[in-house]
Amino acid sequence: MTTPGPWSAPHVPWFGGDYNPEQWPEDVWVRDVELMRAAGVTLATVGVFSWARLEPRPGEYDLDWLGRVLDLLHGGGIAVDLATATASPPPWLARLDPASLPVRADGSRLWPGSRQAYCPSSTTYRERSLALVERLATRYADHPALVLWHVGNEFGNHVAECFCDRSAERFREWLRDRHGGIEALNAAWGTAFWSQHYSDWAEVLPPRATPTFGNPGQALDWRRFCSDELLGHYLAERDLLRRHSALPVTTNFVGFWPELDYSSWAPHLDVVSQDTYQDPADPRTHVDAAMVCDLMRGLGDGRPWLLMEQTTARVNWRERNVAKRPGQYRAWSLQAVARGADAVLHFQWRQSTAGAEKWHSAMVGHDGEPRADVAALGAELAALTGVTGQPVHGRTALVFSWPSWWAQAQPAQPAAELDHLTEARRWYAGTWDEGLTVDVVRPGADLTAYALVVLPTVYLLADAEVAALEAYVAGGGTLVVGCWSGLVDDRDQVPVGRYPARLRDLLGVTVLEHLPPAGPVTVELAGDRHQVAVWSERLAPDPGTEVLGSYAGGELDGCPAVTRHGRVFYASAPLPPAGTRAVLAAAAAAAGVGPALAGLPPGVEAVRRGDSLFLLNHTDAPVELVVGGEPVRLAARDAVVRRAP
Ligand code: GLA
Repeated sequence: MTTPGPWSAPHVPWFGGDYNPEQWPEDVWVRDVELMRAAGVTLATVGVFSWARLEPRPGEYDLDWLGRVLDLLHGGGIAVDLATATASPPPWLARLDPASLPVRADGSRLWPGSRQAYCPSSTTYRERSLALVERLATRYADHPALVLWHVGNEFGNHVAECFCDRSAERFREWLRDRHGGIEALNAAWGTAFWSQHYSDWAEVLPPRATPTFGNPGQALDWRRFCSDELLGHYLAERDLLRRHSALPVTTNFVGFWPELDYSSWAPHLDVVSQDTYQDPADPRTHVDAAMVCDLMRGLGDGRPWLLMEQTTARVNWRERNVAKRPGQYRAWSLQAVARGADAVLHFQWRQSTAGAEKWHSAMVGHDGEPRADVAALGAELAALTGVTGQPVHGRTALVFSWPSWWAQAQPAQPAAELDHLTEARRWYAGTWDEGLTVDVVRPGADLTAYALVVLPTVYLLADAEVAALEAYVAGGGTLVVGCWSGLVDDRDQVPVGRYPARLRDLLGVTVLEHLPPAGPVTVELAGDRHQVAVWSERLAPDPGTEVLGSYAGGELDGCPAVTRHGRVFYASAPLPPAGTRAVLAAAAAAAGVGPALAGLPPGVEAVRRGDSLFLLNHTDAPVELVVGGEPVRLAARDAVVRRAP
C-alpha cells in the first residue's frame, strides 16, 4: 500500500502533460525523459489510451513496457499520473461483444475505429476495464513514480448515452430507485398528458427518436441517469484503486460539459482536474476560460485543482484552428494558476506523427525539440513559490445547475435561444468586467461565505435549492436573479400559483406574462438604453419593490424591467454587457464587494491567490497599473505576479 505522494502541497505548480509512449520506439522514451528534464517537466500523465498495447488480445496482458516507462520517468525525477487506460477499448472488445458498442436514439450503432466506442451500460466493457485496472494497480500501485491516478479520460466525450436494450434495462433500474413504483413515475413525468401513462415497467424506454416532442420529465431523468451511469464506471475504478493504493484519484473534466452533472461527480474526486481549450479566434475567450477555472474551484469547494490539459498553440478539431498569439500561452497558463490551479499540464508531450491528432500542437513538435515557450514556462513555474495550495479570495458566487440546464434545453420552451449556459456566461462576463472574483457553485451550496450571489436564468429549482437561497437572503446576502428563473420543481413541473412560483416572494415581483419578443426591445436603466433580444416579461412589482429600469417603446412601454426588493435584484430580460454590468455594479455596491484591484482598464484581469496578486493583460496594447502605490507596466498579452499589497 502506497502512502499519498507530495500531491496535496506541491512546492510549485506541476508542469507536464499526457505522455503516450506507445506511439514511439523505446529509444525515443530515453530522449523524452532528457527533454522533459530540460523543459522543466515534473509530472507526466501516462497511458490514457494504452489499453490495446497493455492487453493486445482479450486476457493477454503486456505490462512490462509500462514498467520501463515508469522507471525511466522516475529515474529522471518526473512524477507520474498513471491513467487506468480504460478511456478507449481496443477493437477486440467490439468483436468479443458487439452489443458493447453504443446505439444512437435512432437505433443506429456506432462502430470501433475512433475512440470511446462503448455503451455506458455495457457489462462487458465494465468487466474488461476493471480486469485491466486490477492488473495495473496490482503491478504498479507501489511504483515510486506515482503520485496520482487518472481514471478514464473526459467521461462522456464522445459517448455520453446509449439507447440500446441493455441501457433501457439499466434506465428502468435507475428509475425504480429514484421513484419507487410505476405510479410515482407516472406522476413525476406527468404521463396523463398525450396518453403516455405506463402500466408496466417494460413499457418504459430511453427517450428514443419519437414522432414529435418527447416527455420532458423522461428526458430530464434520462440525462440524470446517463450522468450517473458513467459515474458508476468512475466509482468502480476508483474503488478498485483504493483497495491497492492510497494515492489520490481524479478524472479530467471539460468545463461546462453538457451531459455530465459535474456537481454530482466532484465529491468523488480527490482532486478536481480540467481540460481547457480556449479559442484564440474569440477575443473574449479568456473570460470563458476564467469562468471554467472558477467552476473547477467551486466544484472542489475552493480546493486547488489541476489544469490537466491545454494546448501549447493550436488544437485540430475546430473548423479553423487559430494558434495562441505570442504571450497567450503563458498568460492563460498563469490565469489558471491565479484561479486555483496547482498544475499546468498539456495534451500532449510529443506531437503524434500519425492518427487523428497529428496536427494538434504539443510540447515537443514534429521537429523533435521542446518549444521555446514551453521551456520558458517550465522555468517560470519552477520559480513560482508561495502560490500552490493557497485559496483564491472571492466573495461573489454564481450558481450553475446541470439539471436546470437539461430541463430548459428541452424543446417546446417559450424561446429556444434562452439558454442557461449562455445566461450564466452573460452574468459571469459582467462580473469579470467589474473585476469581481467569483466562485461558480452548485444550487443548494452553502452560500454563507458570499456577500453577492448571482442566479442566472436557473429555470429549475429543487425545494432544498430554494430554501438555500431564502436562507442566504434572510441572512443578509445580496442576490441577483436573471429572467426565467425558479419556474419549475425538480421534476420539471410548474407549481400552480403566480410566476415564478419558486422565487416570487424573494423577488417581490409577479411575472404576469413571459413575452419573447418578435424584434429587439429597449430597456432603460440608469439613464442608458439597452437593446434586448430573445426575452421580455410583463412584471407586477409588489408595493415596496423598487423599479430600477423599465421597458421603453413597444407593448411594454413604461413597464418595469429591472427591480430591487430589499437585497434581491431581478432583471426580467437578458441585458447586453453594459446593462448587465449596471445591475451588477448596483448589487455589488449593496453587497460591499469590489475588484481585487481598483481602477482596472478594460481587458485586464486581477486575481488574488493567497498573498499573490496576478495581473493579466488580455489586450493587444501595453497597460500601466498602480499596485500599492507603485506603477506596474504590462506589455500586450503579458502577465505579472506580485505580492498582494
Ligand atoms: C481532449 C482529450 C485529449 C485530446 C485533446 C485534443 O482534451 O482528452 O485526448 O484529444 O482533447 O484537444
